Amino acid sequence: MQWKNSTTRFGLIAVSLHWLVAMTVFSLFALGLWMTGLDYYDSWYKQGPWWHKSIGITLFLVVIVRLCWRLLTPLPAALASHKSWEAKVAHVTHLLLYLLLFTIMVSGYLISTADNRAIEVFGWFDVPATITALPNQEDIAGWVHLILASTLIGLVVLHAAAALKHHFIDRDSTLKRIFGR
Ligand code: HEM
Repeated sequence: MQWKNSTTRFGLIAVSLHWLVAMTVFSLFALGLWMTGLDYYDSWYKQGPWWHKSIGITLFLVVIVRLCWRLLTPLPAALASHKSWEAKVAHVTHLLLYLLLFTIMVSGYLISTADNRAIEVFGWFDVPATITALPNQEDIAGWVHLILASTLIGLVVLHAAAALKHHFIDRDSTLKRIFGR
């Protein structure tokens, strides 16, 4: 399997980044829901958010790398069997997925830094708090973060359902291509 995309196939880097981001998003969503239900005396009350924030900031960097890679190596062309409206819907969906990822990350940053504290990332480095004094910053950013994360998961379910429809009903190679085949 080649590293870069070709006109007909996704390369190893694009495939690895796609599945790394997908698995991380599902894990962060599950961790986020679970940790917000913990009570103060639970041993994970502080550890959960520490992992959620460290992984979230790392995901932000990975998504930047993914976007740079996408600009460097264009995506394979849509399959000839895809109708033009399907290709357009897929394109808009992919843009929305990226947009949601970024807005979720920014809102997460605003929740954490509302009290003027930097975000520690795995103890490797800190991301400083910059915007801290917006009215009700923590509550509003928290609400936006939850709504957008739920919207992202809903859109991903539709995106995955479309891929499965192509695989099992249309029997084309849409799904196989995102596994590099
Ligand atoms: C959080 C989870 C996911 C995100 C954020 C995501 C995002 C994306 C994006 C942005 C693309 C466009 C290609 C690119 O920019 O690299 C893409 C392509 C694709 N994804 Fe996902 N994806 C996720 C999960 C899934 C799942 C679970 C499946 C299948 C079960 C799937 C199947 C596909 C397929 C088949 C393509 C290629 C579409 C085409 O050729 O037009 N994705 N995905």
